[in-house]
Amino acid sequence: VVFENSSTASKSVAKEIAGLIRAKQDKGESCVLGLATGSTPKGLYAELVKMHKEEGLSFKNVITFNLDEYYPMKPDSVNSYVRFMKELLLDQVDILPENYHIPDGTLSKKEIADYCKNYEAKIEALGGIDLQILGIGGNGHIGFNESGSLQNSKTRLVALDHITRVAASKDFSGLSNTPRTAITLGVKKIMEAKRVILMAWGEGKSNIIKTSVEESITNQVPASFLQEHNNAVFVIDKAAASKL
Ligand code: GLP
Repeated sequence: VVFENSSTASKSVAKEIAGLIRAKQDKGESCVLGLATGSTPKGLYAELVKMHKEEGLSFKNVITFNLDEYYPMKPDSVNSYVRFMKELLLDQVDILPENYHIPDGTLSKKEIADYCKNYEAKIEALGGIDLQILGIGGNGHIGFNESGSLQNSKTRLVALDHITRVAASKDFSGLSNTPRTAITLGVKKIMEAKRVILMAWGEGKSNIIKTSVEESITNQVPASFLQEHNNAVFVIDKAAASKL
């Protein structure tokens, strides 16, 4: 779906999410959202906060799982995804603190495998993710599932691609300070989500959007796996759609 700009697109995605949250509320059910970080979903989170403050949209029945976190990463560090999520959404709405989950960047290496299994088990116990929000990396990564990630990959510690680290290095004041690894939800859990919305804005994303939706499915471009999802949509602005 191509929108005139990222603002109208973000509003439309926020409306869909609010509709889902309310529909679940009416049924007395919880709503399990998979959330993403990066610059792309910022407008969406601002819209959701606005809906909470102005229309009383409640997040009391919402349970969230973030896609990823740098490793190692302290939660209060400026670049942590915990801090990002709390500032832009979680601390601004009435979600219960026990209901949001963001991969823990403070674990010891030997704790990671069990932690990742447990992260997936929590999602499974809730019946899976109702709606997964995604951005896309310049190399086609989703979450931090870099090129080469398998379609059935699990939640795990991954090495970040050079191109991903270069993109992140502006936030970390230089490549040498940029983490080399991260914990990411695997492709399998993303593909199991009942609905997936991948968002992308700007000309800088136009080539990878074209590759992901028009070229063949390959693990070199993990976003291309979504071609096989039965309820996935790419919500993009005109500039990101310019090569289609
Ligand atoms: C990071 C995140 C991804 C995100 C990507 C794109 O690598 N781990 O989840 O989709 O960046 O970031 P941006 O939205 O800033 O372009």
